[in-house]
Amino acid sequence: MAHAHLSLPADGLSAAEIGERIEQYREADVDWRSGKVLAYIFDPGEQAEAVIKQAYTAYLSENGLDPTAFPSLLKFEKEVVAMAASHLRGDEQVVGNFTSGGTESIILAVKSARDWARARKPELARSAQRPKIILPSTAHAAFHKAAHYLDLEVVLVEVNPDSFRVEAEQVRAAIDEHTIMLVGSAVSYAHCVVDPIPALAELAREHDLWLHVDGCMGGFLLPYFAQLGRDIPPFDFSVPGVSSISMDLHKYAFAAKGASVVLYRDKHLRKHQIFTCATWTGYTISNATVQSSKSGGPVAAAWAVLNFFGQSGYLNIAKHVLAATDKVMKFVDDHPELRLLGRSDMSHVAFSSTTIPIFRLAEAINARGWYVQVQLSYGNSPANIHLCINPANLPWIDALLEEIAACVEVVRDSKPAPLVAGVLQALAEVDVSTMDDQTLQQLMAMAGVGGGGAPKIGAEINEILDALEPQFRERLLTEFMNELYTGA
Ligand SMILES: Cc1ncc(COP(=O)(O)O)c(C=O)c1O
Repeated sequence: MAHAHLSLPADGLSAAEIGERIEQYREADVDWRSGKVLAYIFDPGEQAEAVIKQAYTAYLSENGLDPTAFPSLLKFEKEVVAMAASHLRGDEQVVGNFTSGGTESIILAVKSARDWARARKPELARSAQRPKIILPSTAHAAFHKAAHYLDLEVVLVEVNPDSFRVEAEQVRAAIDEHTIMLVGSAVSYAHCVVDPIPALAELAREHDLWLHVDGCMGGFLLPYFAQLGRDIPPFDFSVPGVSSISMDLHKYAFAAKGASVVLYRDKHLRKHQIFTCATWTGYTISNATVQSSKSGGPVAAAWAVLNFFGQSGYLNIAKHVLAATDKVMKFVDDHPELRLLGRSDMSHVAFSSTTIPIFRLAEAINARGWYVQVQLSYGNSPANIHLCINPANLPWIDALLEEIAACVEVVRDSKPAPLVAGVLQALAEVDVSTMDDQTLQQLMAMAGVGGGGAPKIGAEINEILDALEPQFRERLLTEFMNELYTGA
């Protein structure tokens, strides 16, 4: 029998030793406290962080499994949901739940839409055709994941190549008798724009469909941007026909991770979210969300941070983030080699280039101590660099823009690495649709990925991935993940 390489230490370590080990382990992590990280982190500053930690650790052990045993957790959740609903202009009918993140909120909304449609239209439940959800190509991957988990068919609609917003007429053309759900984003992650929610809502009402608005990224910050004068199209419960909205608190509300809400127009819609099981031998389960046992930490910490900043605190943050985003957009607009993708409605900026190798540009920027994200090309959206602007980045914006301009000059005339050409040539010689796993692994080894550790995905790998069909990218990345989480 094969043995794992690592087993529990024979005797426990001291708290001090554990602390030291943790510090060693995190040495290679992205240094988000530098203020130079433009992805993954929503840093509220030290004062708020202390408040969040206090609330989180105070509720580390309490279990959200049974809200009747811990009424304080129920109270936190109800208050957080109520604040979220009024933020999104919901009336007293609006209900919702606290979830672990955007993905869970989205999975729950899609499940509710599916079960609502089945209950409403029994012919759907009897049909051999899977129910369909219509997604703009810019909708977050979490909807694809939800469809995958819930056995629904995704119908993709391409977005406008300039605005990167979906067009209602394109959505209308995709609706058929199996459609159950429409989706719009406010904002989309990649290009940070708001889809035409009123037009989608009109379609949903006309065809008796569920409309979900993905406000995971934008739901919290957009109302402040609107107050500050940004022309934000309507996207919330003030639009009749919006059935549900997801809004993450662990993004621009700066809650500790594991914090999102999913909101429904009324209780009749939310009912389809709840799962109850009395057909086993243990305690009766009735779960509103995906998780069953769960720490009280995230909901207590989310409640704490909302109360810590309040409306004026968030508005003040939004003002500075807005000004910084405008500055970055102007820089891209004015730069002859860079192209802004869409006009950001909020605080992310995505830019591409037809003359500068974009992945090498990102790598050069990151080599100078920054962390910027890249997005592969898909449909109308060319490969690009994506900046998610946060309060922690504000002192660094001028430095970032100077660095981007300097790095453009560094990579301008660079040639693709021989590795990229080699792998792409090897790929051209095989039929990737029938490639077996072993050949796939050989290719990955050739490209220097796989085999444990946490490789840095640099420009070379991204150039290879970008040249591949999305289906093959998916296979490759699945294989990669399977390797990454193997061994210790
Ligand atoms: C628009 C949008 N929807 C959904 C999600 C998924 O959220 P999470 O990563 O919390 O699951 C994100 C994450 O960035 C997002 O930007």
